[in-house]
This record gives sequence, C-alpha cells and structure tokens, in this order.
Amino acid sequence: MRIGILGGGQLAKMMALAGQPLGHEFVFIDPAADACARSLGAHRVSDWSGPDLVNQLAGCDRVTFDFENVPAESLATLADRFDVRPSPKALEVSQDRLAEKQLCASLDIPVAPFKAVDTRPELMGAIDALGLPALLKTRRLGYDGKGQYRLAHSEDLEPAWQSLGEQALILEGWVDFAHECALTAVRDAAGEVRFYPLTHTLHQEGILRFALSGSPANAPWQDSAEKIVHQIMDALDYVGCLTVEFFVTEAGLVVNELAPRVHNSAHWTIEGSVCSQFENHIRALTDMPLGAAHSRGSALMVNFIGQMPSTDMLALDGLHWHDYGKQARKGRKVGHATWVLEDFATLKRRADELTAHLEPSQVQGLTGLINAAG
Ligand SMILES: Nc1ncnc2c1ncn2[C@@H]1O[C@H](COP(=O)(O)OP(=O)(O)O)[C@@H](O)[C@H]1O
Ligand SMILES: [Mg+2]
Repeated sequence: MRIGILGGGQLAKMMALAGQPLGHEFVFIDPAADACARSLGAHRVSDWSGPDLVNQLAGCDRVTFDFENVPAESLATLADRFDVRPSPKALEVSQDRLAEKQLCASLDIPVAPFKAVDTRPELMGAIDALGLPALLKTRRLGYDGKGQYRLAHSEDLEPAWQSLGEQALILEGWVDFAHECALTAVRDAAGEVRFYPLTHTLHQEGILRFALSGSPANAPWQDSAEKIVHQIMDALDYVGCLTVEFFVTEAGLVVNELAPRVHNSAHWTIEGSVCSQFENHIRALTDMPLGAAHSRGSALMVNFIGQMPSTDMLALDGLHWHDYGKQARKGRKVGHATWVLEDFATLKRRADELTAHLEPSQVQGLTGLINAAG
C-alpha cells in the first residue's frame, strides 16, 4: 500500500524503515526541506493545512501522522477522502489536555486533579482548589516539557501568567509519583489488541531521557495498565499504536497523557521486542495481522538530546544506534541508542560499561533509574 504520513521526522522515518519490508511505500508531508524521513519515500514540502493537502496525498491508501499537532480540522477533511488511522477523533482528544483528562474521568480512569483556566480569576480559583505545588500547562501544542510552568509559591504566578496567559490553559495538581512508566499497545480495525511490556521512563526538564523495558518495579502494574489502555482504545475505536504515560503512585496508576501515535518511550521495541511498535503500527494501518509484542530480554534506550555523542558506544555488545540525521540544536532529540541484554539483572550488573560513555548528568539519571527499577 501507499501510506501518507503527516510529518517527516524521526518517527516517520522509523515507520518507513519498518514498513518497507512489508511492501509498503511512503509519502511524507513536511514543510522542512531537510525532514529526516525524506530519503525513504516521496517528500512533499508542505504544511498540514490548506486545500492542496488532498492533492499532495493523491494515491495514498492510508493516511497517518507522526506528531500530534497536525490541525484536527485538516485531518477531519482528509478523512472524507482517505482512510485515516488513528481517527481524527483520537487526535482531537489527545491534542487537548483538558479533553484527554475528561475522557479518562468519564471512564473512571485516575488522572491528576485538574481545572481549566482561561482567565486570571480562574487561575486563582484553581489554585485555591488544587493547592501548590501545581503545574500550569497549555492545553494544546506542548511537548518535551514545553508550554508548562511549575508553580511552587505564590511568587511564581506572575511570571507563569506572563509567559502562558494568552492561551487556553489547564492547572494540574502535583502528582507525587514513585516513578513514571508508559504502556504502548496496538489495536487493529477488528478490535484485536497487543500490549507491549510497560516501559520504565525517566524525564528530566520535561524531556524523556531513558526508557527501560523489563523493569521489575513495573511488573505489578502491567495488568492494570493494560486494562486502562484497552478501555481508552475501545472508547476511541482506535486503530494503530497508542502510548499512555502513567505516574506510579502509592494509590496506584494515574494517567498523565496519551500519545496517539508511535512514541519515543517504545523505541526500544525495534530491537528489544519480537515486532516493533513501528511495524505493528503499519500492520494495523494496512490490515495485516498484528505481530507479537513481547520483549526479548531487557532493553535500555538512551535519548541523545542536542547533539550526537561519539560512536565509541557502539563497541558495547548488543548496542544499536539510531542517528536521525538532524542538525544539532539545544534540547532537540537527534538520535538514540538501545542496549539489549538477556535480562534486567544482567543489565544492572553491566550498567557501568554504558555509563562510561555518558555525561555525568546522564550517569546520575541512569543510576537513579536502574536503582528505582529493582
Ligand atoms: N501533574 C504532574 N505532577 C508531577 N509531575 C508532572 C505532572 N505533569 C507533568 N509532570 C512531569 O513533567 C513531564 C512532562 O509533562 P507532560 O504533561 O507529559 O508533557 P509533555 O507533553 O511535554 O510530555 C512528565 O513526564 C512528568 O515528569
Ligand atoms: Mg509527556
């Protein structure tokens, strides 16, 4: 089939790398002339709105997207002409932190306490209701920790309002979590679902730094996470991969947010599982049977933020390298590496071999993650 992807970033690139062996072809719609998926299919240099989008995608059997900020109206228009998966409705819900939380609440799924905030008096009322610390976030367009402000004291209100105040906002109560994890699942058009093992995640400054599969700390949460994700997928009649980010708290799992697409926390599935999230997403889109989602051993993914490190790290047995081919820029995800070992105990025992290649701040984060895992 010919698959059109709105977005031509690293996620589109990895979808195409997984989909080509299945016999599919790809068209990428991305305004950046140097979009990193461009060598893997036809690249149309265009944004994601306007009447020409339909022509750009002419001949596509399926349309999907590699990021959430595609205008939902554009996707809804495309859905009149193309088989769009996941649906515009799924995109619309996960584009808006308020709609996302309302959906979960309607399904009795725990989320952080929240209040919609459009005006200053509403912000004051929300703080009275939820207390401090709290997080003030834009409802839309946030990613990698952008568009959010932590409010610890009343002096933080003014700068937060100055920087975010002109947009629709949400105030979230602070969730005191033991750790964060994410569940990726894939659902096909007939409603069949496969779940990957939970990923233990570590964020710093709002950006995912490390993802670990096979974390003993996650094992007790697998069943409840699957139940929650299954409920959300069925409610949205979802087709493709969905990742749900969770906080693990004393009271149980709390949903943080939904990503209606392939997701960074499951990049480890490329080498660390039987059938990767990228291949399963493409299989679901094209009505092929879903692949097995269980893991091969324990995998650790390290994100490269800002610039690629030295390839010396490749000397480690079982380490896989992904250079997205992007220009170095502060805070930008430019690549990742995944180290796959037979089990978590081996990974923990041999962690020093990897940390020898990392920056001190990364070593601290990774050591904390491994100790929290088990
Ligand atoms: N309500 C909250 N309580 C505590 N920490 C939070 C809360 N919301 C977000 N965070 C922290 O900030 C990170 C990024 O926030 P998130 O809402 O997932 O935004 P993004 O869309 O940028 O990923 C989370 O992974 C978590 O570490
Ligand atoms: Mg997030």
